[in-house]
Amino acid sequence: MYANAKDFSRGETESTLHPSTITANVDFQLAGGRIMRQRRGYIGVLAPFCVLVVFLLLTLTASYKPVIVVHGLFDSPSDFGILLDYINETHPGTNVTVVDLFDRTESLKPLWMQVEGFKRVMYPIMQNAVNGVHLICYSQGGLICRGLVSTMPDHNVDTFISLSSPQMGQYGDTKYLKWLFPQHMKSNLYRLCYTQLGQGFSICNYWNDPHHRDLYLNNSNFLALLNDEKLNPNATTWKKNLLRIRKMVLIGGPDDGVIMPWQSSMFAFYDNNETVREMKSQLVYLEDTFGLKTLDARGGIVSYIMPGVSHTYWHSNRTVFEKCVAPWLT
Ligand SMILES: *[C@@H]1O[C@H](CO)[C@@H](O)[C@H](O)[C@H]1NC(C)=O
Ligand SMILES: *[C@@H]1O[C@H](CO)[C@@H](O)[C@H](O)[C@H]1NC(C)=O
Ligand SMILES: *[C@@H]1O[C@H](CO)[C@@H](O)[C@H](O)[C@H]1NC(C)=O
Ligand SMILES: *[C@@H]1O[C@H](CO)[C@@H](O)[C@H](O)[C@H]1NC(C)=O
Ligand SMILES: *[C@@H]1O[C@H](CO)[C@@H](O)[C@H](O)[C@H]1NC(C)=O
Ligand SMILES: *[C@@H]1O[C@H](CO)[C@@H](O)[C@H](O)[C@H]1NC(C)=O
Repeated sequence: MYANAKDFSRGETESTLHPSTITANVDFQLAGGRIMRQRRGYIGVLAPFCVLVVFLLLTLTASYKPVIVVHGLFDSPSDFGILLDYINETHPGTNVTVVDLFDRTESLKPLWMQVEGFKRVMYPIMQNAVNGVHLICYSQGGLICRGLVSTMPDHNVDTFISLSSPQMGQYGDTKYLKWLFPQHMKSNLYRLCYTQLGQGFSICNYWNDPHHRDLYLNNSNFLALLNDEKLNPNATTWKKNLLRIRKMVLIGGPDDGVIMPWQSSMFAFYDNNETVREMKSQLVYLEDTFGLKTLDARGGIVSYIMPGVSHTYWHSNRTVFEKCVAPWLT
């Protein structure tokens, strides 16, 4: 059952071309105003220059790439109102779509199924976007987005923003898990997750128990495949697909409280002694199994570690938006 994308477009792009609506553009007014003040004496000479600058600014603001937002476990598009307001404020005219699929408990569906659903909705948006699109993918949504960019040979994702997403998996009790599997502790969840039945739940698709690596490798049909930790016949193609993105922006922090270890948001993870090893010590990085090392080597990874943010606040925190997200929505 695939609903249509909810269109949260921020006004028509064309409207910025009408002189009557130009003053709505804050960037333009500030930049233009500064130029006018500094060059008052030469205004006559510089008038053609000013017109050119105005034209360039308009062209730039009119061409913010569309943004697609993918929600996390148990969320729905209605949770992203504040993020949409922020984008409207800093990048007016941006066409933002929060995909309305697999909401709430539906988000427990297997991740490959979700990837296919999101793909279907995103494909036409990508086709309409000549200069590409940006993705903002929150929590579990970050894994859906990685699945998407790895398996779509013709995607045009420019910047992939991974907002506190368990990119290397999850191993820890959270309030979500306690609600779901009350009788299980983190040390026992592998018994359910690493079975065919368990893999029918999104959480198990990225459950990464460092004490049962053999079972993870044999049974995780999402993360282990995406990471090319278990044999993936399409690994070369998937790597090439992922590397079509220009930037990957990793955002996370120590006070998250749900992603465990929180460093999973930075592609770090526990070793078998539950000591966190940084991204560059991970085998998938060292062997460049899915493109992480190549992406990093070409300056394609940007990380922001933000303290003081608990998991459900990532998309509504103004500091996080201004510092880590806004600079990339060009
Ligand atoms: C975007 O912000 C402007 C200015 O505050 C406001 O008038 C407009 O309604 C907002 N657009 C949307 C879609 O929220
Ligand atoms: C926003 O993008 C969608 C998908 O490409 C498109 O259908 C819609 O018309 C766009 N809205 C505006 C106002 O440009
Ligand atoms: C590996 O997984 C397959 C299919 O899920 C299963 O039949 C087999 O018993 C598993 N082997 C081990 C060692 O876990
Ligand atoms: C690999 O790609 C082929 C052809 O695109 C597809 O049929 C197959 O399911 C893929 N294999 C995996 C493991 O995804
Ligand atoms: C595991 O971690 C503990 C505490 O950090 C340390 O004392 C121990 O030597 C480690 N064991 C191994 C095998 O790395
Ligand atoms: C917002 O982010 C800042 C910077 O990381 C942090 O200090 C602050 O506690 C956060 N506020 C909330 C409500 O999450």
